[in-house]
Amino acid sequence: MKTSSDFTPAARLRRLRENRILAESVREVSLEVRQLILPLFVVTGRGRRDPVPSLANVDHCSVDRLPELIDPALEAGVRSFMLFGLPDPADKDPEGTTAWRDDQPVQRAFSFLRERYGREVLLTGDVCMCEYTSHGHCGFLDADGCVDNDSTAEALGRIAVSHARAGADMVAPSAMMDGQVAAIRSALDSEGHVSTPIMSYSTKFASAFYGPFRDAAGSAPSHGDRRGYQLASTNAREALRESLADEDEGADILMVKPSLLYMDVLARLREATLLPIACYLVSGEYMMLRHAVAAGALDEKRGMLEAHLSLRRAGADLIITYAAVDVARMLRER
Ligand code: PBG
Repeated sequence: MKTSSDFTPAARLRRLRENRILAESVREVSLEVRQLILPLFVVTGRGRRDPVPSLANVDHCSVDRLPELIDPALEAGVRSFMLFGLPDPADKDPEGTTAWRDDQPVQRAFSFLRERYGREVLLTGDVCMCEYTSHGHCGFLDADGCVDNDSTAEALGRIAVSHARAGADMVAPSAMMDGQVAAIRSALDSEGHVSTPIMSYSTKFASAFYGPFRDAAGSAPSHGDRRGYQLASTNAREALRESLADEDEGADILMVKPSLLYMDVLARLREATLLPIACYLVSGEYMMLRHAVAAGALDEKRGMLEAHLSLRRAGADLIITYAAVDVARMLRER
C-alpha cells in the first residue's frame, strides 16, 4: 500500500473522526429514549389484541390488555404514548358523535391508564373525527360534501375536553381545520383544563404515506381525499404558515408530518419558531423501512437509528414512531 504522496489536502477533517472518544465528544445531536412517543390503537371489547396486518409489530388492543403493550415499553424506557381510539364500526355516523363519548375506547383507556400508572406515563390523545365518521372525513360535511371548517373546529374542542376529563395529559389535534387550536384552547380553558398542553399536528401534508394507518384505523375516506384540508406536498412556505398560525393560536408544541420526506420543512420550521417541534414518522415511512429490512436491503439497527437520528438533526425535539420500543432497546444496547 502506498502511504506517502506529494499531495496535501487543505483541511484534514478526519482528525476529529479517527479517535472514537473525540468523535463522540463532538457529536452535534443525540437520540434519547425520552424523545420517543409510541402510538397505540385502542379498540372496543375485552381481551382483544390482534396484529394490524398493514403495520408490522403494531396491535389493535382493547383497554384491558393495554398493559401488555405499555409494560414492555416502560421496561425499555418509553414513557410517552399517543392514543388513537377506534369505535365499533356500527357506531359510526356522519357526525362522528362517538368521538366525544366517555364510554368509548380512547376515553376509557385514559381513565384506566391514569388509574393504573399515575404519573409514570404521559398520555396524549389524537383529536380528529376520521375514525368516527361513517364517511371517513376529518369533520362534518356540508351540503357540497366538503368538510365544514368552523363547526368541525368546535367539535374538536368537545373531543379534546372529553380526553382531558378522562385523564389525558395532552391533546393533539390532527384534523387540519383553520382555527382548531384556538377552538380547543378555549374549550379546554372553559372546562378548567387550563394546564393541558396542545401538541398541534400543525404542518400536516396530504400524503400517500398514511395508507397503512388508514387500514389500521379504519379511517380512509369513502369518497374523495383530504386535499381540501391537508397541505399540498409542493408547498413549503404554506407549510410554515400553518405552523406559525397554530403557534399564534396558542399551540404548545408544533409538528411536521410526515417526517422523513419533509425534513426540509422541519429544518425551516426549526429556524422559524422557539416552540418545541414534534415530527411523526408515519405508517408508510415506517413500513418502507420495515420492508427494506425484511428484503435485506437495510440493516435493521443501523437503518432505524439513522432514520430517527436524522430527524433530530433536522430539528425535531420529539419523534412519534411505531418503532419507539425497538429504537429504545437499540439505544440501550449501544
Ligand atoms: C388523523 C390521523 C392520520 C394519521 C394520524 N392522525 C391519518 C390521516 O390524516 O389520514 C396518520 C398517521 C400515520 O400514517 O402513521 N386522525
